[in-house]
Amino acid sequence: MATVESHGLAPVQTLFDVIEARLPSRLELFSKLTKEFSDVTLHNMTVGNVMGGMRGLPCILWEVSGTDKAGITYHGKSLRELQEVLPKWRGSDQTSPEAMIWYLYSGSIPNRAELEQFAADLAARAEVPAEVEEFCDSLSPDISSTAQLIMCLTVWANHSKFSDALMSGAPRNKLWRYALEDALDSHVGTPLISARIYANKYRDGRDRTAPLNPLGDIAENFAIRMGRKGDTDFTELIRMYWSLHMDHGANVSAHTMRLSSSAWTDPYLTLASGLISGTGVLHAGAIMQALRYNQAMVAAIGPEPSPEAVETYICRTLEKGHVVPGYGHALLRSADPRLEPITRFINTRPITDSGSSEQGKMLRLIAHNSTIVPDILRRHVPRMKSTAPNVDSLSGCLMYAHGLDIDFILLVMGCSRGMGFMAQYVWDRALGLPIERPLSVTMDQIMAKL
Ligand SMILES: CC(C)(COP(=O)(O)OP(=O)(O)OC[C@H]1O[C@@H](n2cnc3c(N)ncnc32)[C@H](O)[C@@H]1OP(=O)(O)O)[C@@H](O)C(=O)NCCC(=O)NCCS
Repeated sequence: MATVESHGLAPVQTLFDVIEARLPSRLELFSKLTKEFSDVTLHNMTVGNVMGGMRGLPCILWEVSGTDKAGITYHGKSLRELQEVLPKWRGSDQTSPEAMIWYLYSGSIPNRAELEQFAADLAARAEVPAEVEEFCDSLSPDISSTAQLIMCLTVWANHSKFSDALMSGAPRNKLWRYALEDALDSHVGTPLISARIYANKYRDGRDRTAPLNPLGDIAENFAIRMGRKGDTDFTELIRMYWSLHMDHGANVSAHTMRLSSSAWTDPYLTLASGLISGTGVLHAGAIMQALRYNQAMVAAIGPEPSPEAVETYICRTLEKGHVVPGYGHALLRSADPRLEPITRFINTRPITDSGSSEQGKMLRLIAHNSTIVPDILRRHVPRMKSTAPNVDSLSGCLMYAHGLDIDFILLVMGCSRGMGFMAQYVWDRALGLPIERPLSVTMDQIMAKL
């Protein structure tokens, strides 16, 4: 894709141009770290690190974001800073997902012309291979939405430009360009096939071929295929949600994708691997689990229960050895920064019937619980490192309140996580990262070293 001329003004850079321009300095840094500092100790690894799931080991090289106890920064900027500086889509109050995608790839804020041109490029890619659509339509509605997307991605892999390039002997230092082609196709295609899964599962196939708006953004076209054309609240919800959830450092799904990617697995199958690990209820699957938990709690003790009733309910969960979904975090040690924009969204765009509907009652319960549950958990699970609510305490419920079925909510998250990870995938190839090959160690081997 070449640089686009912009009506006599300075040429508008494409994402290919921007990455190409950034690459030499990043390769130079990569080479410096590899050659000059290879023997410098970064961290003393302890038995506790090994026994505790590699917790706290700064050992996953990531280009698009960095994590530490204070949270996550994307090319050095916090989510809050990014929300202030990234452009919004025409008529939208939310950070544009396309702007976030651009930023993750490039570390630079797109100007208006770049954003428009980038969105147009993505819109021009809004075509899922017929083989994938036919396969999707053949799937039983009994299969979960996430499993359907995972299966569709495995068929999509037949159309990977990265794989074609690999098979036809493309030079190693050019592989990132083919990966970027697949990645850009997937940014727009994954939401479209997800909407098709939704149409097949919940809407008798309606709107699965509805005409898209070639001048729209991914969220608007997703809404069209979800049968929500013109539904501004829904489209804004998707923009907000996707821009918040794209990348979260090397968490379980991202780490899985990195491992797959390190063996040069194609982008589609890599994405499928991340979605599989994302279903775990301790990780992204908590988004559905927290929603179910809140539903059950409202049914059992009502939307505005006394603190004592909440405590009794939570103690029953803990007595069974279960976790309370929506609380705690493997990394963050204070309130999840993503909760702030989500709460703002709820306040500025309240759902209808919020007083009497099941969804309204749940949102009230969540707001109520977020003030009392951290203390309950602190007293009953003192070993929890953070008892603050995490993003999953609220986000599934909000999507449910906007009419999405529980089963589909994880897919909305999967779409955005895939967008973020693909930026990392392209940089994995651009930097020429090696295959991951840590050593495994048995408890007996550890004992023998002590
Ligand atoms: C996210 C999570 C997996 C992090 O786990 P972690 O890094 O082990 O967290 P901690 O170190 O604080 O955990 C210490 C202990 O408290 C427990 N704990 C943590 N969060 C808990 C919760 N929400 N409810 C009950 N117990 C919890 C852990 O299971 C662990 O118990 P163990 O010592 O018996 O293994 C955990 O907080 C959790 O399971 N939360 C609920 C699920 C959820 O909302 N996930 C989405 C995260 S965005």
